[in-house]
Amino acid sequence: MISDFPTSPSALARYVDGYWPAAPVLLKESERLVLRERIRALLVREKAVLVAHYYVDPEIQSLAQETHGCVADSLEMARFGRDHGANTLIVAGVRFMGETAKILSPGKRVLMPTLQAECSLDLSCPIDAFAPFCDAHPDRTVVVYANTSAAVKARADWVVTSSIAVPVVDYLDGEGHKLIWAPDRFLGDYVQRQTGADMLLWGGACVVHEEFKSQALRDLKQLHPDAAVLVHPESPADVIALADAVGSTAQLIRAAQTLAQMTLIVATDQGIFYKMQQAVPNKTLIAAPTGGQGATCRSCASCPWMGMNSLVKLAQCLEQGCNEIILDGDLSTRAMKPLQRMLDFTRAS
Ligand code: 13P
Ligand code: SF4
Repeated sequence: MISDFPTSPSALARYVDGYWPAAPVLLKESERLVLRERIRALLVREKAVLVAHYYVDPEIQSLAQETHGCVADSLEMARFGRDHGANTLIVAGVRFMGETAKILSPGKRVLMPTLQAECSLDLSCPIDAFAPFCDAHPDRTVVVYANTSAAVKARADWVVTSSIAVPVVDYLDGEGHKLIWAPDRFLGDYVQRQTGADMLLWGGACVVHEEFKSQALRDLKQLHPDAAVLVHPESPADVIALADAVGSTAQLIRAAQTLAQMTLIVATDQGIFYKMQQAVPNKTLIAAPTGGQGATCRSCASCPWMGMNSLVKLAQCLEQGCNEIILDGDLSTRAMKPLQRMLDFTRAS
């Protein structure tokens, strides 16, 4: 069941029209090398660790890897930041990832290359619309995806990431809970079909994954009949239906390693190709189609907000200590509870 409660039209308009960020500026090779050295030195000077998502620029992913930070999915980013001894976390990703790091590590300084890196799911679910929606269904347990603001997390009973959404909802269903699920309707629909749970879905979508097209994917499969298809569950149901493996970014990389096929068609942000190709150097990776016949893509399998994380901005935030995540203490404490439930669940399962 999809809620008819409107997602905020103004929030949606912000990312559909005036809000799409500009494409990143390309650097000369010499500038790139100088910046990489500067960032390495600044990480040491600031005693900071770099925590990057699989979708950010491979330049940043490789720096995180080489400086003993981490490149991970959103769940592992949160855990790594919380458990690492560094007092300063540099989170290269989108804002909800920085906020999650701060909620889990209130005593640490959390900086981001930019605070403008949004997420269409987060934007589609403003707290002033979401809170009354929850209030209107007091009999339902509120489960929100990690791709939400701290305020929305604070209103939730549970937070989940794509890697553990199915087991958490399965568990809650087994305990007799009826659920509100927000904000991704495609992931919610997938989880609902996997678990059979009673879920009232918010209507948000990811601007990257909603663009994958099933007919074009079928056509591509005909050209590569031996290929396996890997799909992130933020994609539409008819695309998921064609998948050999469905999962979070980390789970898709593991599936690339365990599946026998030597050719893999990948339906998620192309930033993942950097680490996936390292994991399966002998396999051929093909990007799943986003356009479809006669159509055009807007994100073209590349998250515009993840793309705002540049080497220049990374160096700036380290140099100047700018773009710090600051959260209200009470809000943070309330948002911590559903996040802690998620982390306790992953430890127990
Ligand atoms: P993961 O939890 O799979 O890393 O997904 C985060 C995300 O934003 C996907 O679009
Ligand atoms: Fe949000 Fe989609 Fe970008 Fe992930 S890829 S951060 S879900 S807009």
